[in-house]
Amino acid sequence: MALPLLPVFLDFFRVIKDEPLECFHDEFYQAVQYRLTARPHGRADDWDQVIGSLPALNQCWPDFASPTINLTSSDNIDLTTLETALRQLHPWRKGPFNIFGIVVDSEWRSDWKWARLAERIQPLQGKAVLDIGCGNGYYLYRMLGAGARLALGIDPTRLFCYQFQALQLLQPKNQAAMLPLLDEDLPVTECFDTVFSMGVLYHRKQPESHLDICFKALSPGGELVLETLIIDNPEVCALQPKDRYAKMRNVWELPSLPKLSSQLEDAGFEDLKIIDITRTTTLEQRATGWMQFQSLADFLDPLDPNLTIEGHPAPLRAIIAARRP
Ligand SMILES: C[S@@+](CC[C@H](N)C(=O)[O-])C[C@H]1O[C@@H](n2cnc3c(N)ncnc32)[C@H](O)[C@@H]1O
Repeated sequence: MALPLLPVFLDFFRVIKDEPLECFHDEFYQAVQYRLTARPHGRADDWDQVIGSLPALNQCWPDFASPTINLTSSDNIDLTTLETALRQLHPWRKGPFNIFGIVVDSEWRSDWKWARLAERIQPLQGKAVLDIGCGNGYYLYRMLGAGARLALGIDPTRLFCYQFQALQLLQPKNQAAMLPLLDEDLPVTECFDTVFSMGVLYHRKQPESHLDICFKALSPGGELVLETLIIDNPEVCALQPKDRYAKMRNVWELPSLPKLSSQLEDAGFEDLKIIDITRTTTLEQRATGWMQFQSLADFLDPLDPNLTIEGHPAPLRAIIAARRP
């Protein structure tokens, strides 16, 4: 039986109207229906209630070009009720946001990653952009702030879809949209000028197939912006944690930079450019009032912050840009 899609997912079809992507309308619709049926979430009713409790505003001015995504309004908003509702969507991992004066201090200073790459990638002005593993959509807004024509995100984590839905409901319609899909669900070929894959590759058992998906989604001449964990050890080609890595169960492989470059070239990419290599610090990823679970400080060896608690090299992240010829 066909499930009605939530308005936040239906909005995707408004954004792709009259775009080349529209020819994949039915495939996207079916993929979302399949995922919502295959992966129902036990807390969806609670989160639906949160969304239903959000105020309908007459005015809102979003600012997507600043490190903190800012929403302002001249409406008389009950901020205590709004903050209570937003906190029910805990944990907020990506941000920061300032929502009518409510500062959502997320686990990650996502603005720091954006600052590392924004000036070093192909300009996003007028571009169609895809963000695979987009979290709650923080970067979709930064992409619009950089002039993208449309910014589409996919992420299978339902809570992050709800956070995005909350953010979208509080502001006028825009050209960002998100679907609850995995990379392998993407039906598109040659539709995007820029594809972002940040923090996803090491979660994939077969990283090569993820790179193939990114390649396929790009138009010829388009750019992949890949951010992932690497290891910096000339004697080791890749680390495949036997059990957990920094307490994460789903980290399958951390390649060296040479191995990552070969994987990209094998997928067909050219003109590889290393944009940044940064060790993640406990200033960039930390527990806050909006993410009260454990964070990086709990995942590192208390006696040696160069190691994870399991004895692996501590998180080191590379950002690489590569072109589809
Ligand atoms: C480490 S977070 C990175 C989020 C964001 N891109 C960033 O850089 O901050 C990884 C995200 O990828 C999503 N994810 C995991 N596997 C995925 C897959 N196969 N396809 C798409 N997204 C995936 C997770 O739900 C999560 O939100």
